Amino acid sequence: MINFYVMTLFPEMVENGLNVSILKRAKEAGRLGFEAINIRDYTLDKHMKVDDYPYSGGAGMLMNPDPIVRCHNAVMDKIPEERKGKVRTIYLSPAGRMFNQDMARDFAKSEDLIFICGHYEGIDQRAIDMVVTDEVSIGDYVLTGGELAAMVMIDSISRMVSGVLHNDDSAETETFSGNLLEYPQYTHPEIYEGRRVPPVLLSGNHKLIDEWKRTQSLVRTRERRPDLFEKVELSKQDKKLLKKYDEETGV
Ligand code: ADE
Repeated sequence: MINFYVMTLFPEMVENGLNVSILKRAKEAGRLGFEAINIRDYTLDKHMKVDDYPYSGGAGMLMNPDPIVRCHNAVMDKIPEERKGKVRTIYLSPAGRMFNQDMARDFAKSEDLIFICGHYEGIDQRAIDMVVTDEVSIGDYVLTGGELAAMVMIDSISRMVSGVLHNDDSAETETFSGNLLEYPQYTHPEIYEGRRVPPVLLSGNHKLIDEWKRTQSLVRTRERRPDLFEKVELSKQDKKLLKKYDEETGV
């Protein structure tokens, strides 16, 4: 069971985004909890302002520290005393450590995760220094706010939680276990618009099918993600499969 708390200026965006499909079912089954908390509810400003100009000058507005710290305190108050010390607070930012499957697996061991979604040009560094344990980016591109990034992280962390997927194995057997990309998959019909399912998959020969899947994973990873392929520990059999593929395709 993980409780996700999302601090945001757009709580309805997060609630609507998470309350569907597998995550909705997992929430109803008591495997996950989600709560979106509106940072604006914690401002003491009479105009409900939550942002201001940066001292450094430059374009854009920064979120003030006080509403964030007060909102974070209110979230911590919801968490039982004995779990408070283990809470991780994640600030979504393009300047963070790059998110990956190993991090999803690690965050999935937590019971309580707090996400802080910034808007405008980000948040005052003092709020980060005071409450954030992990600053995380979901990729080398800039979003208009942290909400989509938080939802991406919550989705991938949730599927590592026991009981969220129907088949507990599938959390691990898919792409990125062993640093390999998944092989291509096919379903009915056998011929679609003149395109055939690879004949080996209809052969009923499980050894050949397994070899085909492994070859496809290896070749895809080598072509599309050389950075991952470098980390793959190739077995003798893998090397044989790649050699055979290269000979057959004339690489
Ligand atoms: N906020 C804006 N861009 C982001 C990114 N790439 N990752 C995480 N949070 C962000």
